[in-house]
Amino acid sequence: MTAVVPPAPTAEVLSPFETGPDTPAGKYLRSFWQPVKLSEELPVGRVQPLRVMSEDFTIYRGVSGTVVLTQAGCPHRQTMLAIGNVEGDSIRCSFHGWKFGADGRCQDAPGQGPRLVERMKIRTYPTREEYGVVFAYFGDGEPPAFFDIDGFSKEHGKDMMSAPIRGTATYRRHCNYYINVENALDLAHVAFTHKLSSDPSITEVGFDPGVVRIRDITVERLEFGVRCVEIEHDAEPTSTIVMLPNAMHLVVAQRDGFLEQVGWRVPIDDERHFSIQITALHTDAEGAERFRAYQARHQALLAKYPPTEDCAEEILRGEKTLYDFADHPDLVNIEDHVVQMGMQFINDPGKENLAQSDKAVLQLRRMFMSRLADFMAGAPTADTGW
Ligand code: FES
Ligand SMILES: [Fe+2]
Repeated sequence: MTAVVPPAPTAEVLSPFETGPDTPAGKYLRSFWQPVKLSEELPVGRVQPLRVMSEDFTIYRGVSGTVVLTQAGCPHRQTMLAIGNVEGDSIRCSFHGWKFGADGRCQDAPGQGPRLVERMKIRTYPTREEYGVVFAYFGDGEPPAFFDIDGFSKEHGKDMMSAPIRGTATYRRHCNYYINVENALDLAHVAFTHKLSSDPSITEVGFDPGVVRIRDITVERLEFGVRCVEIEHDAEPTSTIVMLPNAMHLVVAQRDGFLEQVGWRVPIDDERHFSIQITALHTDAEGAERFRAYQARHQALLAKYPPTEDCAEEILRGEKTLYDFADHPDLVNIEDHVVQMGMQFINDPGKENLAQSDKAVLQLRRMFMSRLADFMAGAPTADTGW
């Protein structure tokens, strides 16, 4: 008699790292608003391809200023709509000229009958533009309430909207997004990773030198994430919060005051991500003046170098060192690129040896996984709570 062996139970493996459309973390991240572009990256009449969480999309700004986000391919022969042309608030495919409105409905299909125009439609996604950033909602159903960034900053930060210098920033990093989500709570890295960018004898801008000392931290679990604050600090301590699933808030001393930042680490795919930040520099009139003077030279300094990811690759290949980028305006990012792109544990988290200074990172991992499990069990998580 042949033994009948029942199949092993196929429990879904929960992981924060994979965020494709059918993965648990991918579904979880899609249930929140996600930033996709800086407003300044999307001029009127411009269409671009966009890749987020291993899916391709088309994004454009119509002549009324409306940002429209659609599926990637034209429903006719599936060429990229991102090589099409913006007409009013509509997009016309460059292959055979089918045209779709901001609501996704077909408006024109040259040479085709009216019935095809009537039934043809492309998928569009809700967008919202706030603080100089374009956000999108990739989930099913209605999007959740939007983040109260002003209120959050007043309660947990230094009131970003009152800062004399405010702005937005973005960068791309060749590593999984979750590595950078955790990084916000890894304050022990600052003393070493950012040694160069906090040394006023070598660099012109950067962290306050007082930041680069390993201090003990308090770790607090909040309703919407994990907060980590330095203790035994004679001035204002660095304080960070990760707001689940992939946002962060930071207050850290710079040479010209305090940097406050709300940022998101958004997967492009499972191997790379982009970060979008809303930033404020809390400083006095003199600090603001120095900052603006530096900004005026910023472009010329940037032009000396390849993109920051390439600078980091040169270091990782052993061809350059961080000292070769000492006057790079994005040195802080290059420092973070190098250590995060150099991490090898991604396929085997068991290789790590997490220690005392990683207690906030550990707390976050536990919380992320339990919220992810709740989400997959059907618990509502759409209300971000911040
Ligand atoms: S592929 Fe777009 S109109 Fe033909
Ligand atoms: Fe860093």
